[in-house]
Amino acid sequence: MTKMWNEIMEQPQVLGKCMGKNKNAIDGITEEIKRNGISSVVIAARGTSDHAAVYAKYIIEILTGVPVSLAAPSVFTMYGKEVCLKNSLVIGISQSGKAADAIEVITSANRQGALTVSVTNFPDSPMAVEAKYHLFCDCGIEKSVAATKTFTAQMYLIAQLVAKWSGNEELLDELSRVPENMTETFKEEKSVMERVERYRFMKECFVLARGVNYSIAMESALKIQETTYVRAKAYATSDFYHGPFAMIEKDMPVLVFAPDGPSLKDVEEMMKRLVEREAELIVISNKPELGRMGSSFFRIPKSDNDLITPFYNVAVAQMFACRLALTKGLNPDSPRGLNKVTITR
Ligand code: AGP
Repeated sequence: MTKMWNEIMEQPQVLGKCMGKNKNAIDGITEEIKRNGISSVVIAARGTSDHAAVYAKYIIEILTGVPVSLAAPSVFTMYGKEVCLKNSLVIGISQSGKAADAIEVITSANRQGALTVSVTNFPDSPMAVEAKYHLFCDCGIEKSVAATKTFTAQMYLIAQLVAKWSGNEELLDELSRVPENMTETFKEEKSVMERVERYRFMKECFVLARGVNYSIAMESALKIQETTYVRAKAYATSDFYHGPFAMIEKDMPVLVFAPDGPSLKDVEEMMKRLVEREAELIVISNKPELGRMGSSFFRIPKSDNDLITPFYNVAVAQMFACRLALTKGLNPDSPRGLNKVTITR
């Protein structure tokens, strides 16, 4: 079996391990957030880590009301400018902890006296050393170029931080059940293996979601791109109406994340439009009746809180990308032209 597959399957254990492990750091950060009267959050990250940042944006804004923006590191590195970060919480997310341009943002934030936090899988990495606080993913070495367990660990740590920050005990409780529900999601493995055969010759596809799962649409597209070389493109369903919808033609594959929750009505409306245009829907949902609208359906566990569904949705997408790569005769562990660590400035 591939390294990627093994690492996908390790996730329940990895998340179980990091629950509670970062308690001291999380307590320290939340105390400082309250003491400093933080009025905004800025996050710097690249690639898969940037998708964890998008997840962070939604969960922080929804549960704390504090606005979150994603940094443009080139402002710091190429234009040699700084933005005002004085009253901000500035978070760097990097699996390797070596993302040079994201580190520049943290350095600038430190210079301005902002509260800085890193989320990495290496406690002695340059980013972890630079930021005041470090949240440790503690995933063990991730060998596959395609990041899986580090991504869910990043989301998990951020969700724990937000649960503590917003005093949301219910969320903490729901997070404690994620490892077990991820294991439940992996029961879709057989179905994924059977269905990917249908997409062996797929060359392009769209990936759609709305709300917090927009982060997962982006992450799924990236996983599909790098492991299968399919030209996968992610959109929020709201944006998809504004032009891209015109690209839909008969049999165009579209993966749609349709979990129960605030985004469902909107996503369902989009699904109806796609069915009218005879697109090939691949539905990922905890509502089996929606599955009937697609040619393929993958079930995720029921959840009362849609902020938790990204963990299950991404588990399906990771399995789908890995199995599709193998079906296409590709090795998802070592995609052409890529290295495990990519450093941009
Ligand atoms: C993930 O599947 C990709 N290979 C890529 O996005 C990777 O996650 C990223 O380059 C890692 O950067 P980081 O170490 O700064 O997180």
